Amino acid sequence: MTDLSQSPAWVALKAHYDEIKDSHMRDLFREDPERFSRFSTSLNDILLDFSKNRITDTSFQLLLDLARQSDVEGWRDRMFSGDRVNCTESRAVLHTALRNRSNTPVLVDGENIMPKVNAVLEQMRGFTERVRSGEWRGYNGHRIQSIVNIGIGGSDLGPQVVCESMKPYAQRGLKAYFVSNADATHLVETLKQVEPETTLFIISSKSFTTQETMLNARSARQWFVDLVGNEKAVAKHFVAVSTNVEAAREFGIDPKNVFEFWDWVGGRYSLWSAIGLPIALYLGMDHFEDLLQGAHEMDQHFAQAPLEKNMPVILAMLGIWYNNFFDAQSHGIMPYSQYLQRLPAFLQQLDMESNGKTIDRDGHRVEYLTGPIIWGESGTNGQHAFFQLLHQGTKPVPSDFLIPCLSQNPLGLHHRVLVSNCLAQTRALMLGKKYTEAVEEMKAQGVSDEEINSVIAHKVFDGNKPSNTIMFKKLDPRTLGSILAMYEHKVFVQGVIWNINSFDQWGVEYGKVLAGQIQKDLAQLGQVDHHDSSTNGLINYRKHFYFNIKDYKKSD
Ligand code: F6P
Repeated sequence: MTDLSQSPAWVALKAHYDEIKDSHMRDLFREDPERFSRFSTSLNDILLDFSKNRITDTSFQLLLDLARQSDVEGWRDRMFSGDRVNCTESRAVLHTALRNRSNTPVLVDGENIMPKVNAVLEQMRGFTERVRSGEWRGYNGHRIQSIVNIGIGGSDLGPQVVCESMKPYAQRGLKAYFVSNADATHLVETLKQVEPETTLFIISSKSFTTQETMLNARSARQWFVDLVGNEKAVAKHFVAVSTNVEAAREFGIDPKNVFEFWDWVGGRYSLWSAIGLPIALYLGMDHFEDLLQGAHEMDQHFAQAPLEKNMPVILAMLGIWYNNFFDAQSHGIMPYSQYLQRLPAFLQQLDMESNGKTIDRDGHRVEYLTGPIIWGESGTNGQHAFFQLLHQGTKPVPSDFLIPCLSQNPLGLHHRVLVSNCLAQTRALMLGKKYTEAVEEMKAQGVSDEEINSVIAHKVFDGNKPSNTIMFKKLDPRTLGSILAMYEHKVFVQGVIWNINSFDQWGVEYGKVLAGQIQKDLAQLGQVDHHDSSTNGLINYRKHFYFNIKDYKKSD
């Protein structure tokens, strides 16, 4: 592929950027009363308002030209049809098949994978119904009251964001916990809250080799066996989800209780697979299938809607606009919903593990910025923490604001206050406050001219800060499924534009190898001197306390 930044669509965008970079959204809104209707689109009851962006009709068309030039539609079709679009691992990328509710055949190497997908869904239904109904009992006859998912990355964040967001749909009396960190504190503090006879552990790991997960799984198993004094009881309290069925069996999980998925499901795209088992247990299989349905509807929208109405494509291209032309380094995720508080963490992995790449598909170093830093916090908390920087800082942070029209907890004025804050923030970010407006406002408050002169510069807001608002009727499983799938496809489209493989994560592997070496060093008595001086010094400082070695700066 030729250099993207020299391509016709990119060059046209750059020239256009130079023309419009100083125009203000305040004026664009004033000049065009139809701006909201022209720059918004919807799917079911999810509305995407992207009118508060620094775009004109021309910008929008040029961004879509870039999408066409990069053959986004072709790549999308190849992904959906099972081509090995994960080129560095030579794998198909078919999380969409896991939620293919139309059940049309999807072929991998000539084999229709839908029967396998459906068989695991059936297995999940049977198991979750037995647990939730109380038919499945612990080793001494107690009902399961706590689920502890042990996994990390995609084997943690996906099921966690859904369970947290869908609390109103959870079965009464059933609690869901998520343990991921290698820090024993995570496991220990969780185990303090559960009883062995009423707890079901789910060991979730695509590879079944991830160090943190296996460490936590072994410690949880030990805790359990120590307390109940019976190895055989493990079968009633430990199940596994993995592509590595053999390793799960070797760990001692009853083969009947191993839930399988496949290498064409990426870790951070796996919540739709058996990795969703904690979701299905916590919410029930019908709700899990509603989640799949919502995601499937977004898949169809992504596959069929024209680019100018296509939510994932629009979000992706706006992201490219800011990342590559306005030099925005980060992208904010601001859910105005307490239930969505884990969404920024989930999207961090989805986006940053997928598009945090420097080498393109052809093995060349890219000459443009790729994936942004994703961060955020639920509103209104963020307003009282970091929004100051959004309003008056020097760094542009284009952001997505997500808000339901109806609350799951319609208590007094709470939701009206929440919505008004969300809309006020995006409006303030867009409009800003002019010098004259700030002066008028202060005068009306009776502030003296002298005082106005001394502070007026601080009271002016530039505005022109872009945001998308994603507003939906209510946060239910179907809507959540659509929203999560929308972001998956957004990330995919950006990867296509940047010509990178969004489905590998070699960078993470390197740290794992080094950790193995340092772990060995930490176990040996005596000082270490074969790393760089900083790493040696830190290892030796830890040894100073752990082995009581006196002088950690001096090698022995
Ligand atoms: O962080 C790297 C990674 O491979 C993620 O992509 C993945 O979600 C996570 O580790 C956990 O992997 P596994 O499910 O194989 O334990």
